[in-house]
Amino acid sequence: MLPTSSASLQVGFYGCKCPKAEEIVRKVVYKAVAKTPGLGAGLTRLFFHDCFVRGCDASVLLDPTPANPNTEKTSPPNNPSLHGFDVIDEAKTALEHHCPGVVSCADIIAFAARDAAKFLGGITYAIPSGRHDGRVSIAAEALQNLPPPFFNLTQLITSFASKGLSVDDLVTLSGAHSIGESRCSSLSLQDPSIEPSFIAFLRSKCPSTASRTVVVDQDIVTPNKLDNQYYKNVIAHKVLFSSDVALLASPQTATLVEGFARHQGAWKKKFGAAMVKMGNIGVLIGNQGEVRKTCRVAN
Ligand code: HEM
Repeated sequence: MLPTSSASLQVGFYGCKCPKAEEIVRKVVYKAVAKTPGLGAGLTRLFFHDCFVRGCDASVLLDPTPANPNTEKTSPPNNPSLHGFDVIDEAKTALEHHCPGVVSCADIIAFAARDAAKFLGGITYAIPSGRHDGRVSIAAEALQNLPPPFFNLTQLITSFASKGLSVDDLVTLSGAHSIGESRCSSLSLQDPSIEPSFIAFLRSKCPSTASRTVVVDQDIVTPNKLDNQYYKNVIAHKVLFSSDVALLASPQTATLVEGFARHQGAWKKKFGAAMVKMGNIGVLIGNQGEVRKTCRVAN
């Protein structure tokens, strides 16, 4: 299990060294998401995919090199679906201009996900920072650590537990599937516990299930709002993945789903707290890691 180092991260870590750091990231993120709401979903998922593989160390951002041609971003869970990299680059460029060598790429990802939640869901939370960037990125580790959409509840709980996250966190964070899209090829079209009429609808949107480019909305009711509609969709069995409908498979998780479907405010509060918790996974601090000069390349 990866250690969590919550004690070391601090809210407002850049307060002295780069007081405008969070504001600079926020401006870049808001501009991008206002233009293309889907980028907010991309940035939210980027945070999850960073933190679950080697901890929140920006390993997901490293481009392949001749010496290391298979970085995380080349692996099937990330390629070609993960996006938002350009937004992180734009924020990093602005930050390097303003206070060179100070703000880590891992913190930029965490800030960007927080800002996307505010923009798309009115969800506000303070995110501790002070993460350093890692130097290692291995494609196989993405496959080993990221839960696939066909996982059942037991497998999902085990996956989250291996990162120090609880059943409650699993149900709470899954609410991120109220925004963004999925490629047709990732859908659980054979799952009998998903509503058959919804499967028929999905099939009509996906002329070829093997397509790598056609996408469907995760939440057809409020596609660009980070809200509790996801939980209503789960209750109606109108979701894209086995891993979504699996949240009804135990009384404990089903009760959480029902509660979140009824109480939007309670879910939003818990979502912020769970994002903070996810942001503590395996962080590099102090003399561990580095602050990259550019997010795609280790120094
Ligand atoms: C519980 C286990 C999870 C599974 C099995 C899962 C699986 C997936 C899959 C298969 C996709 C579609 C990828 C594609 O286009 O092929 C997706 C999209 C997405 N996931 Fe998850 N996910 C999980 C948890 C999470 C968490 C914890 C978050 C964030 C807190 C998250 C945020 C998102 C977002 C925002 C999208 C849409 C991305 C976009 O539009 O670019 N997911 N997820």
